Amino acid sequence: MGGKPGQLIPKTGGFSGTEPMADVIPFDQRDGSLWYDGKLVPWKDAKTHVLTHGLHYGSCVFEGQRIYNGTIYKLKEHTERLFFSAETLGMKIPFTQEQINQACIDTAAAQGITDGYLRPVAFRGSEMMAVSAQNTTIHVAIACWPWPSYFSPAEKLKGIRLDISRWKRPAPDTEPVHAKAAGLYMICTISKHEAEAKGYADAMMFDYRGYIAEATGANVFFVKDGELHTPTPDCFLNGLTRQSVIAIAKAKGVKVIERHIKPEELTGFSECFLTGSAAEVTPVSEIGPYTFKPGALTETLMNAYSDEVRGLAKVSA
Ligand SMILES: Cc1ncc(COP(=O)(O)O)c(C=O)c1O
Repeated sequence: MGGKPGQLIPKTGGFSGTEPMADVIPFDQRDGSLWYDGKLVPWKDAKTHVLTHGLHYGSCVFEGQRIYNGTIYKLKEHTERLFFSAETLGMKIPFTQEQINQACIDTAAAQGITDGYLRPVAFRGSEMMAVSAQNTTIHVAIACWPWPSYFSPAEKLKGIRLDISRWKRPAPDTEPVHAKAAGLYMICTISKHEAEAKGYADAMMFDYRGYIAEATGANVFFVKDGELHTPTPDCFLNGLTRQSVIAIAKAKGVKVIERHIKPEELTGFSECFLTGSAAEVTPVSEIGPYTFKPGALTETLMNAYSDEVRGLAKVSA
């Protein structure tokens, strides 16, 4: 397969996941090294058994974070969330947060990546294969790969089209909705696949009450009369990018209103965009029958977030 570390993917890291497969090297066949249970190991040797609890029962949590100009954006916050997610699932990560932070830095350095994506993951091992898995080892791995912004700013500003998912974000007493847990992504993958089959880039999910919730891997914002409206994150991730964008907007004097938003209100918004570590700030042009025109506020926040993550104009905590 060949290829230098840091040049593992010839064309794109694939936020959309719809790139032609021939353009993407399968993730288990790349070169370089990744961090697995305390040390860097050759990438292709980082294997786990098929009878792994995390694979069968969803006892798995993860993070997705970007590195810009050699600095991992909000590294501490991502690691804190990884530990919170693990704790929520009753998993004790056998490393300190400082060790995981250092491991993320070491993994990116080993791959020679200064602009890319990092994926820490923690999961239960294979000692027990039943719902009860009290004595399984908790494994941790961290991989890093190049992941450029897929769209150029001009291309991005056209906005992406979202389907409306038939799946609802569950109630907080149905699933641990604030953990970044692999099991919660089951309905995201189904929704995204169904949306892509209809020609959409992604899907908007409503929550168990019927309010607007989030896309399959990103939070959502709307613009009305120069103000930002975004759903209250009471049954989905309060994304770190969401928090950055709120801080940036407030610093620019833009009013931010967090509230429950009903689908029928979508007719009243002029702009819409998604936020996420992978998605960054991505303008939206359609959600099912509702249309939006990416405009000045979206572009301002998109550019300000781009500066923020590169340390050019830091405003968020
Ligand atoms: C379901 C979901 N919601 C929201 C987000 C945005 O979170 P963040 O901005 O912390 O990446 C993500 C991405 O991790 C996600 O997967």
